[in-house]
Amino acid sequence: MTDVRAWAADGPHEEFKAFGYKLGPLGVDEVDIDVDYCGLCHSDLSMWTNEWGRTQYPFVGGHEVVGRVRATGAQVPNLKPGDKVGLGWFARSDLASRQSMAGDHHLSPGNEGTIMGRHGGFADIVRCQWPWASPLPDDLDVAKAGPLFCGGITVFSPIMSFGVKPTDKVGVVGIGGLGHLATQFLNKWGCEVTAFTSSPDKAEEAKKFGAHKTLNSRDPKSWKEAAGRFDFLLVTVNVTLDWQRLTATLAPKGRLHFVGAVTEPVPVHVPSIMGGQKQVSASPLGAPATIMQMLEFCGRHDIAPLTEHYKMSDINKAIEHLEAGKARYRIILENDF
Ligand SMILES: NC(=O)c1ccc[n+]([C@@H]2O[C@H](COP(=O)([O-])OP(=O)(O)OC[C@H]3O[C@@H](n4cnc5c(N)ncnc54)[C@H](OP(=O)(O)O)[C@@H]3O)[C@@H](O)[C@H]2O)c1
Ligand SMILES: [Zn+2]
Repeated sequence: MTDVRAWAADGPHEEFKAFGYKLGPLGVDEVDIDVDYCGLCHSDLSMWTNEWGRTQYPFVGGHEVVGRVRATGAQVPNLKPGDKVGLGWFARSDLASRQSMAGDHHLSPGNEGTIMGRHGGFADIVRCQWPWASPLPDDLDVAKAGPLFCGGITVFSPIMSFGVKPTDKVGVVGIGGLGHLATQFLNKWGCEVTAFTSSPDKAEEAKKFGAHKTLNSRDPKSWKEAAGRFDFLLVTVNVTLDWQRLTATLAPKGRLHFVGAVTEPVPVHVPSIMGGQKQVSASPLGAPATIMQMLEFCGRHDIAPLTEHYKMSDINKAIEHLEAGKARYRIILENDF
């Protein structure tokens, strides 16, 4: 048995308090990680408040972990104690499923989440199945890499899987944790990038992340100049915007792609997407192999999240800051147990 010290909330909006639990024997394909840093994603906030109706309490969030391997099960092929690793949203997949066999572990039915039905990385130790503990390259800063394992891979994976081209004109809707990473990726990919933001103070900063233009995401009238422009629009917000008008900014064969967890239905007016053969889609995170490609891409292009740092014991202040929409652009908690 392994004793874990963690921060847990007993209900929606209840404050996080010190909490201890025990992990049973390590499975043969499992890895225990000593947590050094853990990013704070909007999904942690949605889970904490039970916005998706799937939270079990006591709730220990945290799914943007960077740490060191503490122990490995007997059949872990690639990791040893002391190795630097990152862990994101998924903690276990059926490796024999068709999707995993095809390299799409993130689409495998029955995937287990790091913070769903188990306790996550707001703790000193977290456990996962080995494919989801990704080795961290030496050229990445351990103190800043955590957000790549959820926010980063969530926006990198669709760029890869939908074949976004360097000649494409793309839009990133919402410049938060996911959006500021997407802007950096797409700029280095070679695309012309437009940032849609509702925060006037973010417009200049979005340009530093690599946006060539900015538009107000809450002012559809200002999008007229962009009519028929975008090959790819990546939506990272979780709120309802004017989807009808946003679709009108897609070029023929353009794609409106959701990674933000918009919970209200998105109306799709078929005649408006039919003529231009436009597409609407959504995706969850990305596969372990894509995570490795993303980490390499970050090293080569010097891509990193812009972060604010809190001690893990200040988690209540940190989550309040995120909830108020004040994070610039990703909060990272440092383990101080
Ligand atoms: N698909 C997946 O697998 C996956 C993975 C990770 C996260 N997510 C989801 O992705 C979403 C974004 O996560 P995040 O961590 O990037 O969140 P975040 O840092 O809070 O950023 C969300 C951004 O949405 C914009 N926004 C918020 N309220 C708005 C409003 N009323 N009107 C217009 N824009 C608004 C803001 O950008 P501006 O200030 O620029 O307007 C904000 O920075 C969440 O729903 C999260 O659960 C999904
Ligand atoms: Zn996340």
